[in-house]
Amino acid sequence: LATGSSPLGLYKKMIESYQKDQVSYKNTEVLNLDEYIGLSEQDPNKYSHFLHHHLLDHADFSKDNIDLIMAKQGNVQEECQRYHNLLISNPVDIQILGLGSNCHIGFNEPGTNFDSQTHIVKLKEDTRKNNARFFSSLDQVPKEAITVGIRDIMSAQHILLVASGKQKAEAVKRMLEEDICTDCPASILRVHKSVTIILDEEAASLLKKERGELC
Ligand code: GLP
Repeated sequence: LATGSSPLGLYKKMIESYQKDQVSYKNTEVLNLDEYIGLSEQDPNKYSHFLHHHLLDHADFSKDNIDLIMAKQGNVQEECQRYHNLLISNPVDIQILGLGSNCHIGFNEPGTNFDSQTHIVKLKEDTRKNNARFFSSLDQVPKEAITVGIRDIMSAQHILLVASGKQKAEAVKRMLEEDICTDCPASILRVHKSVTIILDEEAASLLKKERGELC
């Protein structure tokens, strides 16, 4: 699962489907993408809280099937190794993704090696600024995070990326039209065998016309 505002509509629909008895998540195993480093366990900005609040607590997910990264305080290096092992023994069927306005996926910032696995990252200032809207001030936004790597993301059977709004238009254009390069981490998704990208009109507004019409 991904955090951030992008997948919120999807999570709402998932909850609705459960409430209408159309789907059950009781056998769904849940891992997630990333987490800030340095927040207290109670901090509502922790991504583990976000996922419980916006999805997991509102449907029949079994708590034995949920293993969120850094949900508990602990040694971050050890957590990288633990999550790496977990991803190897539990290959991901579907990876949900948002898109950072600098084209990051998870917290894999521009410059991240495409071969990366779960690791610690130093957040870029533009990422901290974008995410400051969830905190009382920019100073409160952690400077580091833990994220599954690009190689981990690319190992999923299917990838579903959601992006909306004008503020994502440039990143969407770069992801789909720029040369595939580490400056634009999301561009690597173009070589994955099964990716679905869902955009609203604003997020798709800078795409070349022919692709825009397809959207
Ligand atoms: C955050 C998260 C990403 C998320 C992205 C976009 O920094 N680490 O997983 O996809 O930025 O966030 P939003 O959907 O709120 O725009």
